[in-house]
Amino acid sequence: QKRVAVLTSGGDAPGMNACIRAVVLACEQNGHECIGYKHGYNGLLNQEYTEFTADIIHNLIQQGGTVLHSARCLEFKTQEAAQRAASNLDALNIDTLIVIGGDGSFRGAMHLSNHWDGQVIGLPGTIDNDIAGTDATIGYYTAIETAVSSIDKVRDTADAFERLFLVEVMGRHAGFLALSAALASAADYVVLPELFNGEEETLNDIHAQLTVRRELRGNISYIIVLAENVWPGGINDLSQRLNALTNSEVRPVILGHVQRGGSPVSQDRILATQLGAHAVSLVGKPVNAVMVGEVNGKPCEVPLPMTWESTKPLDESAVQTMQALINSRYA
Ligand code: F6P
Repeated sequence: QKRVAVLTSGGDAPGMNACIRAVVLACEQNGHECIGYKHGYNGLLNQEYTEFTADIIHNLIQQGGTVLHSARCLEFKTQEAAQRAASNLDALNIDTLIVIGGDGSFRGAMHLSNHWDGQVIGLPGTIDNDIAGTDATIGYYTAIETAVSSIDKVRDTADAFERLFLVEVMGRHAGFLALSAALASAADYVVLPELFNGEEETLNDIHAQLTVRRELRGNISYIIVLAENVWPGGINDLSQRLNALTNSEVRPVILGHVQRGGSPVSQDRILATQLGAHAVSLVGKPVNAVMVGEVNGKPCEVPLPMTWESTKPLDESAVQTMQALINSRYA
């Protein structure tokens, strides 16, 4: 029997609660005790934790956000903080810490692992899907759905006015969410960090595509999905420059934190449940400082540094399909 602690850290993602539930239930089944640290690494530094009861876990699978709350903890980067966290964990006799979060949270987990003798396991929870070593991250599928349903609504009003819309989608510095949302919402164009060739080339390309479609169909709506942090001057700059270039009204829409909320879709619930259960199956085994991910439908363990040191490429066939659709005159 071991003592396990779990925390959620960094940008929250739909399915984090489903993952907490899976960890708590698997601990209970395997005879481990489980506590939850609150507010990410801050809770670890301040010894702020909660015991799990059946009431907390009941109905948790369908709730967005995280019952343990989350935070970005800059202080945790220091050696002093990692040492304090290690002695706090030891004071509670914790054997294993499970960290649900993204890239920054995994760096924190590795940092802790360098100062603590216990076992550290990461679980990928972020809407950005920018973690190498796993096909998908918990929250990514729900965020696609949220972005797509918002873009569908933008399309209605864009069609009514035959306007150009720019829709900014989250993803930090990766284009996974933007590409999937663009494909599923039949966006007319997508600007991705992985394929960005500079401002002039992008503007000229959009103008050329739009001109071809207008020659064929007259005034039309046109939706451009823009991954956040790609356009150097931001969405308003791109909007103004497109307005001038195409002589059309352009409206910018930033989807923002809406994409982080909501009840998780089934794919995120299942992923969260599988990964949480697999993490607990490793408790007490000679494996440490790993992330549990899923590749080709199977859980796998990956050394934590690999999750941020390796580059995770966009799906090549999805990129090609999107490119072909952008070039289509009928889309
Ligand atoms: O990593 C998740 C994410 O939502 C990114 O997509 C986004 O760039 C960032 O977090 C926003 O962070 P914050 O909530 O601190 O503004």
